[in-house]
Amino acid sequence: MENRSQWGTRAGFILAAVGSAVGLGNIWRFPATAFENGGGAFMIPYLVALLTAGIPILVMEFTMGHRYRGSAPLTYKKMNKNTEWIGWWGVLVAFVISTYYSVIIAWAISYSIFSFNLNWGEDTEGFLFGSYLETAAPGEFGGFVPSVLIPLIIVWLIVLGVLYRGVKKGIEMANRIFIPTLVVVFLIIVIRAITLPGAVEGLNAFFTPDFGAIMDAQVWVAAYGQIFFSMSIAFAIMITYSSYLPKKSDITNNAFMVGFGNSSFELLCGIGVFSVLGFMAVSQSVAVDDVVAGGVGLAFVVFPQIINQFPALSELFGFLFFASLVLAGLSSLISIIETYVAGLSDKFNISRQKAVIFGGGFAALVSLVFATRGGLNFLDAADYFINQFGVAFVGLVEVVLIAWVLRKLGTFKDHANEISDIKLGGWWTVSLGVITPIVLGYTMVDLFRTNLMQLFDTETGNYAGYPDSFILFSGWFIAGGALVVAIVMALFKWKSARAVNENESQNTGEAR
Ligand code: ALA
Repeated sequence: MENRSQWGTRAGFILAAVGSAVGLGNIWRFPATAFENGGGAFMIPYLVALLTAGIPILVMEFTMGHRYRGSAPLTYKKMNKNTEWIGWWGVLVAFVISTYYSVIIAWAISYSIFSFNLNWGEDTEGFLFGSYLETAAPGEFGGFVPSVLIPLIIVWLIVLGVLYRGVKKGIEMANRIFIPTLVVVFLIIVIRAITLPGAVEGLNAFFTPDFGAIMDAQVWVAAYGQIFFSMSIAFAIMITYSSYLPKKSDITNNAFMVGFGNSSFELLCGIGVFSVLGFMAVSQSVAVDDVVAGGVGLAFVVFPQIINQFPALSELFGFLFFASLVLAGLSSLISIIETYVAGLSDKFNISRQKAVIFGGGFAALVSLVFATRGGLNFLDAADYFINQFGVAFVGLVEVVLIAWVLRKLGTFKDHANEISDIKLGGWWTVSLGVITPIVLGYTMVDLFRTNLMQLFDTETGNYAGYPDSFILFSGWFIAGGALVVAIVMALFKWKSARAVNENESQNTGEAR
């Protein structure tokens, strides 16, 4: 029997899980997603998704990892030998995410350095897309951008170095440094933000609800997508991290701490971001709607503009903001890559170090695509499709399979209740067995319908400006490819005797 790695302490596990959850999704994605999807009204689908899907799935994934003690593919295989492919599907989604997530961290490293002299100048948009990314037309590669490539290499060296050192000496230690630093830095930024003139204007724009948005299925998909991405659920991460828990561990309480910790941080990010947007809007005498931008634009175009206008210490606040993006991003990226390090190591019976070199090395090579002049266009398409048709879809399949096909909710509930302070009740079973399949199922059907139509209607769809062939290749090909490769991975023979011999009937009870 091999000696499976373990977290050193309970705090170490919680810090690592929070480090995984708190990431670019909180700082970079949440404020814009909330604003675009009804502002204050987005909080309703967001809270429904958090309480009926986010926390229940987190409890379920912690239980699965703890019970079966394996990477996601091994966990699914032990649960039922026909479901291994779902574990790989989550891993493949994580693989794709890691290839571009690393690139956004690389941009943030460059921007932390640019902060020292406010190098982005007055035209921050022209600087990002022109001088910095040298953006080419969609579908073209156009050679490497050295100022992206160099920080990208640094990102890979850091994360693969941490992973190489193992669970306790690498992942746990890195998070013990990153997360407390991140919290302190971010609190400084938020306190400064809410004391800026105009902050209230921004907060009003953020929290004023547009109730019409609640009836829109896309808003619900956005809320579920945000919760899944942000909590690192439904793409193999939390199953992997909880597989390193000692036998005597609390599950439910840990999940509550991680889930609510992540959402509190997310809300804090929304408050900080909209306070500075309010400051900018008031100083330019325009509405907050006119200064807000989604995704890339918010962090790398609007923020530099705001930093230019800071009353004092612009360079320092610029550096702190981008450094917090780097810290939050690195701790999440480590967890994303750990999914395939663990998967490869279990399946092919190779050491962690070999899995880091082969798996991580391959991902690093693929990520080079996003460091080319056309990289931003590929990143945009990959990010949208892998989130909508990767993360949210895996989540739906996972819940339906466990609740309805394998009917494991009762077993998992007993497992978690036996070792946890907080006992799971009807809320958990109804959320996973009824509410999430219905709400998420309905919204996914709607999403597929509208996106399949948009494929033929890009002028009016989300992708105006991108040719259909580009969307087909970069978007659908990647989202579909993750599923196909997952099925192929599941067909390979297991090299590890432990995995082949164990299954649910043999390890129930002993697996704790
Ligand atoms: N949970 C991570 C994030 O929010 C992936 O960025």
